[in-house]
Amino acid sequence: MKFNPDKPYNKLPNILPDEKYWRLLSIYEQVNKANRAMAELKGRLSAIPNPDIFINTLSLQEAKDSSSIENVLTTNDKLFKAFTLDSTADPHTKEVLRYGKALVGGFRVMKSGKKFSVKLIELIYRNIKKENDGIRDFSVYIGNGYRRIYTPPCCRDVILDKLNNWISVANLKSDEIDPLIKMAILHYQFEAIHPFKDGNGRTGRVINVLLLSVYGLLDDPVLYLSKYINEHKNDYYRLLMGVTESNNWEEWILFILKAVEKTSKYTLGKVFTIIELFNNTKEKIQGEAPEIYSFELLETLFTQVYCKYSFLVEKGIASRNTASKYLNRLVEIGILKKEKVGNEFIFKNKGLYEILKK
Ligand SMILES: Nc1ncnc2c1ncn2[C@@H]1O[C@H](COP(=O)(O)OP(=O)(O)O)[C@@H](O)[C@H]1O
Ligand SMILES: [Mg+2]
Repeated sequence: MKFNPDKPYNKLPNILPDEKYWRLLSIYEQVNKANRAMAELKGRLSAIPNPDIFINTLSLQEAKDSSSIENVLTTNDKLFKAFTLDSTADPHTKEVLRYGKALVGGFRVMKSGKKFSVKLIELIYRNIKKENDGIRDFSVYIGNGYRRIYTPPCCRDVILDKLNNWISVANLKSDEIDPLIKMAILHYQFEAIHPFKDGNGRTGRVINVLLLSVYGLLDDPVLYLSKYINEHKNDYYRLLMGVTESNNWEEWILFILKAVEKTSKYTLGKVFTIIELFNNTKEKIQGEAPEIYSFELLETLFTQVYCKYSFLVEKGIASRNTASKYLNRLVEIGILKKEKVGNEFIFKNKGLYEILKK
């Protein structure tokens, strides 16, 4: 029977742990390229003593690009400000910020050894969407503006059945399948199941990064995988559809592998540039304001783009008064820029802002 875009696709096949498309010869070259790029990113990060300084800033870039695919739009500046001053943001910016938290929180949970479950997946969805519901029990469809192009399975029991298959494959680590190919297949399958009323794209892309942790390919949630997807959005949609309509796994898998390769290299480039700035900033403070220098202070300036007094106080670096002296001194030597939002002062790391803006 031909696939019908107007009827729930309840015949969506389960994924089996060993299918021939998991071993396509034509994708081997790209698998290797993607794996090499990922391994380099992981390796370089592990050589840095404090890789967690990248987490907040880089995970927000991923959050921004992934949300942008769904037309949830914000700017870096709004996002960085909202990170520091939670309350002032517009609804889209808040949604992107929640995405970043769901990503970082989810990554931490997986790193501690937790397995995928319906509960965990629902939690990621709720965190992003700020909703209380879970797996849907009604039909939804995907349209292209003119007509329906895909109607995912319905309803709750069918979805749960397919999601449990997804979970059992995702949690299986002992097979011989390349983890990146597996991630590509799991991402298609998750989107095809489309378990929630909305937020499926974003939940699925958070899960991509979590899978990289589960399979040991990444130790920190810093990869901007959605950047490539966002820049090739039409291919992304077309190739998802291509699997459903004509079983075209090959092109789909190649697409995701290419995304991994490109974004690993891109992310690594950002990491290097930030480290360079970090070292230059260290020298500058030590040279021009040695009386306030400490490594903790330096790290705090890179943990987010906008710093405020309380960050220094919370980390035990300075009292409220000293914190003000420190940050204003860093303004004087040209590292920070002071801005007033409402009745609060925040301090922008100028160099870091420029790097992330590009
Ligand atoms: N033909 C398709 N088949 C399966 N999934 C699709 C198809 N086209 C798009 N998608 C997925 O659906 C997502 C959009 O679903 P949606 O629930 O609105 O997510 P979000 O709220 O995060 O926007 C896309 O990002 C993509 O991952
Ligand atoms: Mg949506």
